[in-house]
Amino acid sequence: MRSGEPAISVESVHKSFGGDKNKPVLDGLDLTVARGSVHGLLGPNGAGKTTAVRIMTTLMAPDSGRVMVAGLDAVHDSGRVRERIGLVGQYAAVDEALSGRQNLVMFARLNRYRPSSARRRAEELLERFGLVDAADRQVKTYSGGMRRRVDLAAGLITAPDVLFVDEPTTGLDPGVRQDVWAAIRELVRGGTTVLLTTQYLEEADQLADRISMLGRGRVVAEGSPAELKAKAGDDWLEITPADEADLTLLRAELSRWSSGDITVDHNLIRVPLADRASSLIGISAALRDANLTVRDLSLRTPTLDEVFLQVTGHTALHTDRITTSTAKEAIR
Ligand SMILES: Nc1ncnc2c1ncn2[C@@H]1O[C@H](COP(=O)(O)OP(=O)(O)OP(=O)(O)O)[C@@H](O)[C@H]1O
Ligand SMILES: [Mg+2]
Repeated sequence: MRSGEPAISVESVHKSFGGDKNKPVLDGLDLTVARGSVHGLLGPNGAGKTTAVRIMTTLMAPDSGRVMVAGLDAVHDSGRVRERIGLVGQYAAVDEALSGRQNLVMFARLNRYRPSSARRRAEELLERFGLVDAADRQVKTYSGGMRRRVDLAAGLITAPDVLFVDEPTTGLDPGVRQDVWAAIRELVRGGTTVLLTTQYLEEADQLADRISMLGRGRVVAEGSPAELKAKAGDDWLEITPADEADLTLLRAELSRWSSGDITVDHNLIRVPLADRASSLIGISAALRDANLTVRDLSLRTPTLDEVFLQVTGHTALHTDRITTSTAKEAIR
């Protein structure tokens, strides 16, 4: 891979199954992943994430298009691509009846390590993923997060240039998810490029330098998490008067700070704000001067969730709707 060359470059990839060209799973997929970065490929169930990963990891050929991974053509030079990549599939590849250590030694042997080097490599990875204490227990006794860490470790046996991780934490509870994220961040510090697919917007937000959102078989939005959120528009304030009779007056007071259309839904007023901090301070003073009391108030920031909804028409994948900050305290 030459310096400056992307770790992954996908151009106009098409893929249909069963000869049904009218319903392509991938319909002109373009993707560029910079070396040393984490790239998130986001999409709901059935969007084609695993299909894209299978194509990039040489397990499946595209119908058309160009796929370069680690500077090599994934279709015509698949053998050499395989030597440079690791894959952690969507479903665990480890053998549950074996211990964590036995699994890693086995994967190392499959990757042509000699027995002594295989044991050494397994030891390093057990250490790196915090699995030393559980190393000799059968994997079937492991928690979901520990299993996923064994999967990650197995994907890293060969210290790949590019690691593909298909849905790293689907089905894991939030605490365990943090562990897996930490493991992935650790890899990136070591220089590995990571492409991960996910249905969790928060996961992409936490881990990815750049995100591609997949819809109708192609990328419908691309950017850093911050760029994507900025696309979804301004922050906004949600405010409910203590007395419903104040609704019109309150709305009029707020119009001064609004950066767009104010909307009213029952007794909830939504006000877009271009500058949340100074607006909130101003609003707070104005409401006090006007003797208006509010029952509830919160400041919201667009989430990736909103962007996803706008660009794909799909509602949230798996996401917790979080109010970024409750501004009640500020106004009291
Ligand atoms: N080998 C195959 N043969 C036929 N259809 C397939 C095959 N693999 C995938 N598909 C279809 O392609 C579509 C995309 O599947 P894919 O597994 O790539 O989606 P995904 O985004 O990974 O979904 P999930 O989030 O559920 O993992 C689905 O409609 C699926 O049924
Ligand atoms: Mg999948």
